[in-house]
This record gives sequence, C-alpha cells and structure tokens, in this order.
Amino acid sequence: MAVDISTRDSVAVITMSRPEALNAFNVEQIQAVIDSVTQVNDRADIRSIVLTGEGERAFAAGADIKYMVDLDGAGGAEFGRLGHALTRAVAESRQPVIAAVNGFALGGGCEVAIAADIRFASPNAVFAQPEVGLGIPPGWGGTQRLPRLVGPGMAAEMILSGRRVGADEALRIGLVNAIHPLETLVEASVELAAQIAANSPRAVAAARDLMKLAFNGQTASGLATEAELFGEAFNGPDQKEGMRAFVEKRKPIFEN
Ligand code: HXC
Repeated sequence: MAVDISTRDSVAVITMSRPEALNAFNVEQIQAVIDSVTQVNDRADIRSIVLTGEGERAFAAGADIKYMVDLDGAGGAEFGRLGHALTRAVAESRQPVIAAVNGFALGGGCEVAIAADIRFASPNAVFAQPEVGLGIPPGWGGTQRLPRLVGPGMAAEMILSGRRVGADEALRIGLVNAIHPLETLVEASVELAAQIAANSPRAVAAARDLMKLAFNGQTASGLATEAELFGEAFNGPDQKEGMRAFVEKRKPIFEN
C-alpha cells in the first residue's frame, strides 16, 4: 500500500509508505499522497491530520532520484509542478497538518514536512536540502518556506551546503517544535492534533488563514520562479552528473 489512512476520533493519520526506497516520492507516490490528503479534506468528521512515514528510518528520503535522473527540462519542470501540487495539498489542507518526522526528511521530504503547520520529530530525524549536490535547486517550495521557518541565514546554510540537520539542531533552529521518542512520536502528534480538533473548526481555519497572511507576501510569485529555475536545471549538465553519481553510488564531479 502506498499510503495508509487511519483515524483516531477526529484525527486522521496519513502514513506514506514506500519502504523499499525510504518512502521517496515517485509519480505514483506523489499522486497517492495528494489523493489521500484530498480524501481526508473531504471528510467532515476529520478536524486535524498527522502525516508520517512508514517504518523507523524515513519520513521521506526525497523525490525519486532514479526517476529524475534521465528527465529533460520539460520533464523536470513537470515533475516540479507535481511536487508543488503535493506540497500545496499539505500547505492548503482544509484541516491543519502535523508532520511526525520519523527519520530522514531529505529534499522533497523536508519540503513536505515544512509545508505542514507543525513538526514533531523523533531523535533519529535528519533534515536536509541536498539538491544542489544533485545539480538542481530545491524545487518543491523549500526556497520559499525554509527561510520563513528558520530564518534566511540558516536556510541559506542548509540549502547552499546541503548539510544535514539532526533532531536536536532542528529543535534549536525552530525547524521542529518538539522531539518525542520514535515509539511515541505518532501518539504525541495525535495528542496535539486532538487538542486542535477540540477547538472551533471555524476559528482554527480563520487563524490559519490569518497566520498565512503574515508570511504570504511574495509566496506565489516566489514559488512560480522556483518552479521555472528547477525545470531549467534539467537542461544543464549538472543534474545528470549529480543524479547519475547517486544512482552509481559515487561522488559527483561538477565542472565550472
Ligand atoms: C530514489 C532512493 C532515494 C531517493 C533512497 N533511495 N533515497 N531512491 N530516490 N531519493 C533508495 C536507495 O537507492 C536504496 O535502494 C534504498 O532507498 C535504501 O537507501 P540506501 O542509500 O541504501 O540507504 P542508506 O545507505 O542508509 O542511506 C540513506 C540515505 C541515502 C542517506 C537517505 O539513501 C540518500 O542519500 N538518499 C538520497 C537522499 C536525497 O538526496 N534526497 C533528495 C532528492 S532530490 P537500492 O535499491 O539502490 O538499494 C529532491 C528534490 C525535490 O528531493 C524537488 C525535486 C522535484
């Protein structure tokens, strides 16, 4: 099963499941997650959502590099748009979303997590935007959402270096709200989701809309430009070298 949906009273738990690739997103998986969020959004009995990854190793290890490696500019742009649809589904979900980050949240995985309203992490959580090492810029909202979440300096460090950030550091920089043991991460997330669910749904919706206004000035145009530059990266040599190196399990060599 690509995505599992379970419910605890008025909280839905959506579990992304593609364990053979550490829950990395190929086209089918992206569509399955979008469909699941949409399906839950349509349910009047659900008031908040917990989004997590199957297993003990990964929330999601990013977009599927084996799928992306041979894409051309048009294919890259299309895949970028699909990823935007995924992160938009999370960001614009009718119910608030808590990401329960249970391991790797890399590239697109990190971008899905930061599209959620709130993040809880287990001690083994690892966040990174490693795209530039693969010859592409982040393409699923990371360039716009990460600076707003952790500040421009820390976002620049993460996005330009690709450096990994563990759970303790993620807590310190505001990338996650709290750390919970892996065994109780989803329960703790459900508990907070239930607190949200007990409040006035109309007031919660209004508060979310208002909080988005605090940051939304340039988001739409920023995301449009991100999508454009992401697609363009697939026309140059670095995306092929960066992604082939991952597939061939070697270090990439980027020429000037
Ligand atoms: C495809 C992936 C994958 C990915 C892991 N796998 N991440 N396949 N795309 N993003 C696969 C591996 O190829 C391997 O399958 C299996 O999952 C287990 O991974 P291993 O590498 O063997 O595990 P480990 O040595 O523990 O390393 C874990 C890891 C590493 C550190 C997470 O897998 C890794 O660096 N993955 C890539 C992470 C990344 O760069 N993500 C960002 C992608 S770009 P096989 O069958 O080979 O053994 C991105 C852009 C978003 O997300 C916007 C673009 C549209």
